[in-house]
Amino acid sequence: MSSFRIAVLVSGEGSNLQALIDDLRDSEVEIVGVGSSRADARGLQRAEAAGIETGVFSLAEEPDRAKRDAALAGWLEERHVELVVLAGFMELLTPDFIARFAGRILNVHPALLPAFPGLGAIEQALEHGVKVAGVTVHFVDEGVDSGPIVLQEAFELPYHPGISTIREHFHEVEHRLLPRAVRLIAAGRVSLDPGNPRVVLVESDG
Ligand code: GRF
Repeated sequence: MSSFRIAVLVSGEGSNLQALIDDLRDSEVEIVGVGSSRADARGLQRAEAAGIETGVFSLAEEPDRAKRDAALAGWLEERHVELVVLAGFMELLTPDFIARFAGRILNVHPALLPAFPGLGAIEQALEHGVKVAGVTVHFVDEGVDSGPIVLQEAFELPYHPGISTIREHFHEVEHRLLPRAVRLIAAGRVSLDPGNPRVVLVESDG
């Protein structure tokens, strides 16, 4: 069986990358590359430990974002990547990059979009005092966390004085939801509603 080739882009810790590595091992999905916007991202070490090829595409080395993104896109295309997964990739990608991978970029965000897009989503939710929070996996368009939603999971947000405990809860959900979305896409179970391309149709995975 030929594999479904994905790449994962990170900027930091890479716990979502680790969840993908663990969940997709021995599956039809192969992680063929991990790209990072930072040379010191812990995610790079996780990729190397799993024997996955890595590349660093940092604005520190190439401050021209268009050139940086073009180099990244070329690197992904050379590896025949079918889906680009942003897993804690903390930078916006240029419209040219998004056009080259149109409909083939996925992101995980720790909020029930369209609430709390952008940076600090968990902090924004706590500040707002919401009682229900959640995680969204969505396709990436040119906006900030604004693309069509693939999967969402909501949960009640119990009061807890320590944000690190709350952050762990979000991560647990992310680590389940993101690999599930990738598997569904690889299995051809995800499509856009022809009548309204904002609506993502997902065939149940049981
Ligand atoms: C996650 O919360 C993700 O939703 C957000 O950035 C965080 C990255 O965490 N976009 P990690 O690097 O995967 O541990």
